[in-house]
Amino acid sequence: MTDSNQNKIIIAIDGYSSCGKSTIAKEIAKKLNYIFIDSGAMYRAVTLYCLRAGVVVNGEINLPVLQESLKKIRITFVFNPLTAHNDVCLNGENVEQEIRQLAVAQNVSQIAAIAAVRQLLVAQQQEMGRSKGIVMDGRDIGTVVFPSAELKIFMTADARIRAQRRYDEMIAKNEPVDFDEILKNINERDRFDETREESPLRKAADAIVLDNSHMTRDEQFEWILSKVEERVF
Ligand code: DC
Repeated sequence: MTDSNQNKIIIAIDGYSSCGKSTIAKEIAKKLNYIFIDSGAMYRAVTLYCLRAGVVVNGEINLPVLQESLKKIRITFVFNPLTAHNDVCLNGENVEQEIRQLAVAQNVSQIAAIAAVRQLLVAQQQEMGRSKGIVMDGRDIGTVVFPSAELKIFMTADARIRAQRRYDEMIAKNEPVDFDEILKNINERDRFDETREESPLRKAADAIVLDNSHMTRDEQFEWILSKVEERVF
């Protein structure tokens, strides 16, 4: 390890969907001059590949074709000077926008539940953390990817509050929305993440819970930063 890495740690942020994990993880990484990796973006990029390659047809996954496809998938990140964050690339193509589309969102949970997909991505994620100085968010970062991470945070918020935040975001973008639909979708995703066989969403025994139901972004930022300081100095 180089001198500059001596005090650097690994920060694992896991938790439920729509809790604002990536937003806060990005801010913390920027403040600490750490690398931020959105592990969900990696599962989304694999899903995009599968949709394009016809691995998923009408919601059905062709497992033998998927196994073959995994050999051809290379996920990397490239710094985007406009946003000052890393965009995800699929075989060299920047797909940061495309992975947020509905078709990807509708199929990613299924793809992320497949053991071979997780093995491939977990190995890459572990490699990215070799020099520490990384903030990674996801579902299994503190439990599977970096079980020895110096700081593990488990983020949660009341489902109705998460739904309201998502609803407000969509209304601001003039997208047609129904609050009950959003809430139902959040509850379904929580259940799926917690009950899947492969690396289900769990709080690591040594993770600290951040319930941000009634916290501002600044309060969350300061809270996490104080936990980092306890571990680094
Ligand atoms: O955080 P997100 O919504 O972008 O995640 C997309 C999907 O990937 C979601 O179904 C959960 C899954 N995921 C996972 O299984 N493990 C991770 N480390 C990150 C995301």
